[in-house]
Amino acid sequence: MSERAIITKFDDKDSIMWGNEPVCIGHSLHQSPLFSSDTLAELIESYPREHYNIFSMGAQNGDRWYWRQGDLDGMSGKDVLQAIAKGRLWLNLRNVNKVDKRYAQLLDGLMDEFSGRMPGFKAKRKGSGILISSPMAQVYYHVDLPGQLLFQIAGRKKLYFYPAHKPFITHEALERTAITGLGVDVGFEPWYDEYARVQDFEPGQMVHWPHFAPHRVVNYDVMNVSMTVDFSTDPILRAQMVNYANGILRHGFGWTPRSRNINGVQFWSKAVLQKTFRNVPWIKKQKTSNEQIEFRLDRSALGQIVDLPAAAE
Ligand SMILES: [Fe+2]
Repeated sequence: MSERAIITKFDDKDSIMWGNEPVCIGHSLHQSPLFSSDTLAELIESYPREHYNIFSMGAQNGDRWYWRQGDLDGMSGKDVLQAIAKGRLWLNLRNVNKVDKRYAQLLDGLMDEFSGRMPGFKAKRKGSGILISSPMAQVYYHVDLPGQLLFQIAGRKKLYFYPAHKPFITHEALERTAITGLGVDVGFEPWYDEYARVQDFEPGQMVHWPHFAPHRVVNYDVMNVSMTVDFSTDPILRAQMVNYANGILRHGFGWTPRSRNINGVQFWSKAVLQKTFRNVPWIKKQKTSNEQIEFRLDRSALGQIVDLPAAAE
């Protein structure tokens, strides 16, 4: 565990509201050398292909909706950072705790601090990632299946949190997300914003929001660095299994699931069902169809992208 506390501001009200409403606390990660430009450039340069995603998306001014996935094409870490600074890109270095031990230690220390502050808090699974994103980039309305913490390290963005209930999020959308792994495939209406909690997000702040609360993110005109932590407590793991099993029942068998219980006989039969069906071909196909690489970064014009020919079916 590090000598220096990661969490710098956490009030009694934050532990009371934790999980019920979006909570904003203070942290010190924006001062850590683990997130300096040099460290990030080195990390990017050796990052394993299977653990990162880079996306390009539509502009914030109501441009058409798209969310395409690309490839860094072996560019130097410094050039990737330059490309992100100039383009409209969103780099997600997933599983950074698995890729680099220093971030694993950071994550362990962080979770210890949370357990110290909230004695009932126990994550059975945890992971972290680093997000590096362009000025004016955005992440569309979506839902995450694990619990989430978001730390702002550099730059400024605006966060929109929506209620974790209908019509903002439906059981069908959660089940579809569980099966496709595509969190941005959730219906959105512009008037939902009237019901959103909106927050400017600055270095030194961390947010946690209620499980299954949809959200979206828009960057201000500055490059952003953030760290994400995903975690699953026992109830979160059980809710995920129910989503998966109900998704199989609804989309695979045409049944309408009636229960979302995370205890009892119905839960345990679903726990078996989702495990049994996890690798059947139609589910695998849904997942892999979202993994197509459609562009690469342009080495000769940093910030631009080059479309790749569509992969043969
Ligand atoms: Fe998210």
